[in-house]
Amino acid sequence: MSETALAKTIEREVARRRTFGIISHPDAGKTTLTEKLLLFGGAIQMAGTVKSRKASRHAVSDWMAMEKERGISVTSSVMKFEYKDYEINLLDTPGHADFSEDTYRVLTAVDSALMVIDCAKGVETQTRKLMEVCRLRDTPIISFINKLDRDGRDPFDLINDIEEHLNIECAPMTWPIGMGLDFRGTYNIATKTLHLFDSNRGDRIQEGTTISLDDPRLDEILGEQAAQIRDDVELIQGAANPFDKEKYLAGKQTPVFFGSAINNFGVQELLENFVELAPAPFPRPTTTRDVAPTESSFSGVVFKIQANMDPRHRDRIAFMRINSGRFVRGMKVRHHRIGKDIQIKDATIFMAQDRANVDTAFPGDIIGVHNHGTIRIGDSFTDKEPLKFTGIPDFAPEHFRRVRLKDPMKSKQLHKGLVQLAEEGAVQLFRPLINSDYILGAVGVLQFEVIVARLKNEYNVDALYEPVALHTARWVSADDPKALDSFRDKYKGDLALDATGDLVFMPNSMWRLESTIERSPEITFTKTREHN
Ligand code: G4P
Repeated sequence: MSETALAKTIEREVARRRTFGIISHPDAGKTTLTEKLLLFGGAIQMAGTVKSRKASRHAVSDWMAMEKERGISVTSSVMKFEYKDYEINLLDTPGHADFSEDTYRVLTAVDSALMVIDCAKGVETQTRKLMEVCRLRDTPIISFINKLDRDGRDPFDLINDIEEHLNIECAPMTWPIGMGLDFRGTYNIATKTLHLFDSNRGDRIQEGTTISLDDPRLDEILGEQAAQIRDDVELIQGAANPFDKEKYLAGKQTPVFFGSAINNFGVQELLENFVELAPAPFPRPTTTRDVAPTESSFSGVVFKIQANMDPRHRDRIAFMRINSGRFVRGMKVRHHRIGKDIQIKDATIFMAQDRANVDTAFPGDIIGVHNHGTIRIGDSFTDKEPLKFTGIPDFAPEHFRRVRLKDPMKSKQLHKGLVQLAEEGAVQLFRPLINSDYILGAVGVLQFEVIVARLKNEYNVDALYEPVALHTARWVSADDPKALDSFRDKYKGDLALDATGDLVFMPNSMWRLESTIERSPEITFTKTREHN
């Protein structure tokens, strides 16, 4: 293909890519909505196919059950499907508060987000946290208020709730007619179309009926509710913010849709608007410059690693988001952190129920690359210019455990298991300078249970935890290597190396941290660390 033809192809492919994540508080309907979106995209034929990943937010036992299922129906953390002329990549964002670090990193790989809110509950804690993450990058967000077939809060109240608690302007795109048993459908404010709800058609696409508000037939169809919707629409048109694409793209305004995912209601309308409104891949920052997706040179960054995705193959997959150019199977790319060229022969693309070998992929697409331990979260790959994508951090853990083996003969397996599981980034592994302990650090405590269960299940290692008197962790560095050396000598007992060999200060109290910072002006202490 000539240079110009390639440039044209890339431009066209970028324009039709939509890469997004769904954010919501557990139970708001993320799984159901995901499934319905896949249904509309033709990626699955029947509802009930996508196994819920919600187990991960409850107990370890649920999590293990989910793992078992994983080998059979590949519930991937990335799902690709087509809708009309669009190629959509849906990235799963784990819902539990404990997974926030992982979620944060997944959200670095999306171009926009879809927020699901339960109409009875409004904004919940997890919605708030995820929204904070989105705000860090001004990610554009479309909102879907779900479960209108159940009694919920007044729609005006819900809009206020979002505006107040999530600090984002709302632009209603549709408006519900009644709720719960009285739910009759939605009114599309832009197209002035009434979509009537039929509760028996949850498995099918519900067609809208076009009817204007002053049409007398509206009274026949809706009875008393006709007056209500007329009043509501008048109110919204007077009081609500009109949709403003610029504001939406800047993450300052969220268009709001109402519906019922389980009944398929409002989902197609949502999807249709989503593909039109949501942004295609946009330029991504590196340490040297912003990289535009339409550049013809290939570049990509790994934002997630998962070990043992398929228990039958014991593989470790690095999820790479393509940021520019075109990926072609078998291409050679430079792995910049280790300074080596690697050939990607068998990258995988993830569909709802399957994975397949990928021949070509474009910016916005996520490919799975087999990882034999050389790839880490944050690694950048290009075919020419050395680039290092930024914005994928590690966070200082707040909980710590010392790992102990039940069977000392298994120390090799323990080491391997811990290193591989820590690669996924949900826990961090530290080795103190003064002994050979394994210290795990996590942002949320559920991770510890998960790791012990996975050590047993995937590595056949019985391990247990001991409490350890550590309070927090800070990465330490200094401009003057001598200063770092003397700091290392002086505080040996409080220092450890993380999995990448970086020095970490791990004090047993806040007081010790503060006093050490005060006494060590030449040392920089950081709470987050960019992967390097
Ligand atoms: P999550 O991934 O956000 O955690 O939510 P999920 O889709 O699993 O939905 C949570 C519960 O809400 C499920 O019920 C689901 O069926 C229900 N639900 C989702 N969308 C709607 C809707 O539009 N209307 C109503 N009435 N319910 C909805 P469950 O009883 O917890 O599970 P299940 O046994 O139905 O699977």
